[in-house]
Amino acid sequence: MKRIGILTSGGDAPGMNAAVRAVARKALHEGLEVYGINYGFAGLVAGDIFQMDAASVSDVIGVGGTMLYSARYPEFAEEPTQLKGIEQLNKFGIDALVVIGGDGSYHGALRLTEHGYNAIGLPGTIDNDIPYTDFTIGFDTAATTALDAIDKLRDTAKSHERTFVVEVMGRGAGDIALWAGVAGGASDIIIPEHDYDVKKVADHLRSQRQRGQKHGIVVIAEGVMSAEKFAEELGQYGDFQLRATTLGHVQRGGSPTLRDRVLASQMGAYAVELLMAGKGGLAVGVLDNKLVNHPMTDLFNAKHHAELSLHQLADDLAY
Ligand code: F6P
Repeated sequence: MKRIGILTSGGDAPGMNAAVRAVARKALHEGLEVYGINYGFAGLVAGDIFQMDAASVSDVIGVGGTMLYSARYPEFAEEPTQLKGIEQLNKFGIDALVVIGGDGSYHGALRLTEHGYNAIGLPGTIDNDIPYTDFTIGFDTAATTALDAIDKLRDTAKSHERTFVVEVMGRGAGDIALWAGVAGGASDIIIPEHDYDVKKVADHLRSQRQRGQKHGIVVIAEGVMSAEKFAEELGQYGDFQLRATTLGHVQRGGSPTLRDRVLASQMGAYAVELLMAGKGGLAVGVLDNKLVNHPMTDLFNAKHHAELSLHQLADDLAY
């Protein structure tokens, strides 16, 4: 193996640049040539590929977004499209790849591996919804952004004795809601992985008000329903001076946190080591603070599990 390619795919996540930097710098350090592929698998098929040197990734470790751009490209599921991508790999002499993205991106990476071009996947998504890893690159930053918003909403909630329903991202996963909710002292956290009862949420808010806390924060994951809709349902059980706020794509941006930068750096270097050992079709993760790898096929049949002890903790502490 002489030349490796790097691409980012799916929704961008803070820390993707730190991962690109780590892959490029580690590979160059090991004497490999490195090529950046713009716009994910779409750019691979289009041949939007350029050679990278150490300076290509200077000053990107703390920058949000992805310098390689990203795209969702379902067309890559089709074999003729994959073959077009392979033509480009051959043209540039690229014999292995690192794919940074959500598990959707791993399907493309696995197809390339099956065609003889080893690909390693790094979990880059704010949702933290990838199996076989405790954390994904970008999750810590997104949850910290959500927390910052919750802290700010609490100020105004308190001043006007209001209850805010705050909707956070996560697709079908409740991790951002759970972590930002616990850290932000939410009254209630509503996630897809746990049952909820709107009447019970209302009773809880009422009892908090009776005990003297006249404002409230309810954090809801987008996978359950919108903040607007939940506030509407909650309003039927009492007057909580409700306001609904949807945080949206602000959670995808910003300078990555220390944790995301370190995780991205560790995973990026590890991916190069796996490629150098002749491995492909593997997804990198971190479990109990140790770097691990698992066959991508295992991930497709597995489910990510939210840390439900945090839900119980939030309930106990918001007594
Ligand atoms: O997967 C990341 C994510 O931000 C999800 O949390 C969200 O549901 C989705 O992407 C939004 O997608 P788009 O950027 O295409 O609107």
